[in-house]
Amino acid sequence: ELGRVGDSLDVPVFAVGGFVRDLLMNVPNLDMDVTVEGDGILFAETFAGQYGCRVKSHDKFGTAVIVFPDGFKIDVASTRLEYYVSPGALPTVERSSLKMDLYRRDFTINTLAIRLNESEFGVMLDFFGAQRDLQDHLIRVLHNLSFVEDPTRVFRAIRFEQRLDFTIAKHTENLIKNAVKMDFLEKLGGKRLLTELVYILRENEPLKAIERMASFGLLRFIHPELELTTGTRNMLEEARRIISWFDLLFLNRAYERWAVYFLVLCESLTHDQLWGACTRLAVSEHYREKLFETRRQGEEALATIEKKIARTGAIEKSEVYFLLKDLPVEVLLYLMAKTGSEEVKKWLSLYFTQLQNVRCFVTGHDLKRLQVPPGPLYKDLLDLVLKARLDGRVISREDELELVRH
Ligand code: CTP
Repeated sequence: ELGRVGDSLDVPVFAVGGFVRDLLMNVPNLDMDVTVEGDGILFAETFAGQYGCRVKSHDKFGTAVIVFPDGFKIDVASTRLEYYVSPGALPTVERSSLKMDLYRRDFTINTLAIRLNESEFGVMLDFFGAQRDLQDHLIRVLHNLSFVEDPTRVFRAIRFEQRLDFTIAKHTENLIKNAVKMDFLEKLGGKRLLTELVYILRENEPLKAIERMASFGLLRFIHPELELTTGTRNMLEEARRIISWFDLLFLNRAYERWAVYFLVLCESLTHDQLWGACTRLAVSEHYREKLFETRRQGEEALATIEKKIARTGAIEKSEVYFLLKDLPVEVLLYLMAKTGSEEVKKWLSLYFTQLQNVRCFVTGHDLKRLQVPPGPLYKDLLDLVLKARLDGRVISREDELELVRH
């Protein structure tokens, strides 16, 4: 259909970039990128009009997003327009070719295009040896200034390398080392750095990529003191195991997996240093405070549990529950990766599998009926009952009511 709309407007239309890359590699990709040799916005609007979609367009860049009723999206770009002004004449607009447009991209493997117009439907254009690099499993830039033009590509190279199980080509690797040495990354805005870091930490297996970042000396751009020590490495491995365990157990539980890895990665930083890293990464004030407060609280809770178990060999379920109940999943998983004690790890997993779901029978209504005066006593009584239930001191609703009356 995209091709037919292109034909009706008499413009060449191509599927390009990651979509084609993933198509050749047989990997599902739900983002489709389309490039139009002509007015991409007009194309998007025409298509959307015919197929009942919405369009969001950016006039300045000649780009648009077609949004289908089910949420599927197609990004539409126009090959860039170039203006030539000759003295005394009207400015003339010339269309730069698809090839020039693809040349501006990050890596060869992202430069494939497939023609969608009906006349040449399915014809693949490979200007820069993308198919060869896909076969050889190589991440390669198109020209020497690629990382200077856009330093985020350093992180993209590492992300693709890890995700596709490819290797960064030798010359490209040297260009990355050079970009690091010349401090191009210093100029990268915090937000963009954070976005790239989050993308890497969201990948299924981010460890290899973290290792690669460390070996290129990229961690210091997050914080000058940040290093990948053996301790951090082991903890990251542990975090990966814990995350698989958790995902298997709680299939639909939404949480920010990247934040677990981030906390583990920054485990060796002091609170002040972590604050510095968050400032460098332009983490929003609100999120930064939350991250801080919960990390501090979590570490305190962990120390309490560890100490108690080391000293007495036991701890009450209710104590574990009340220490952990206000902590977000991300921090709890971080603590599981952090603790060196198998016993403590068992307690943390018991919290997830059991303790957090324990509820008592008695409710606020019961307390009202028992004529408990409104106020903080409600919460105290309900906590008292919950504590008794967690520790197995009450079984039935009657036991609970008895406890309240008492
Ligand atoms: N691109 C680029 N330089 C960047 C970011 C993106 O040249 N810093 C180009 C890439 O060639 C990419 C295209 O823009 O193919 C679209 O970017 P994006 O959607 O981020 O990449 P995908 O390849 O689709 O990757 P993903 O599978 O992670 O979505």
